[in-house]
Amino acid sequence: MLGPGNGPVQIPEDAIRRRVAELGAAIAQDYQGRTPHLICVLNGAFIFMADLVRAIPLPLTLDFIAISSYGNAFKSSGEVELLKDLRLPIHGRDVIVVEDIVDTGLTLAYLLDYLEARKPASVRVAALLSKPQRRQVEVPIHYLGFEIEDAYVYGYGLDRAQFDRNLPFITSIRPEEE
Ligand code: XMP
Ligand code: MG
Repeated sequence: MLGPGNGPVQIPEDAIRRRVAELGAAIAQDYQGRTPHLICVLNGAFIFMADLVRAIPLPLTLDFIAISSYGNAFKSSGEVELLKDLRLPIHGRDVIVVEDIVDTGLTLAYLLDYLEARKPASVRVAALLSKPQRRQVEVPIHYLGFEIEDAYVYGYGLDRAQFDRNLPFITSIRPEEE
């Protein structure tokens, strides 16, 4: 696991590129002969989404949803606000949710309920990062980039007070900086 025991979380650009390529290949293998519909959870997943879809050599469609968990990034309340809804119907589709990070799992649990109510044929989850130590509810992650220790991470789409989303790598705030 990447994280504090071994210093701050640092995932270099080339390690992300290699892992995203592997996830894309796994998805392409699993969805052969089908047309997956990828749903990017804004804002944090936008770069992961852009790289992941280019690593999946299949016909696919995609859409975006924006949700915000009440509370702040350090403490998730489990209450979720829908900021931007889907444009396209998902009934009967093979949906893949693309998330930046699964922390307590509360946001993803809400989103999965929301999507299931629209009767897709299937739903799977691709998450770039997971902090298993922080989990409050069990959520399935079928395609996971990296498991990390409990540290606040940013870069590669994830923000630090809205900045640093454009960093091409992932790094973390050291405890003394918080
Ligand atoms: P939950 O706790 O509901 O959290 O799984 C989901 C959302 O919280 C945000 N989050 C982070 N954002 N660095 C970030 O930039 C982090 O270390 C971090 N941890 C949680 C994120 O939006 C995620 O979807
Ligand atoms: Mg997010």
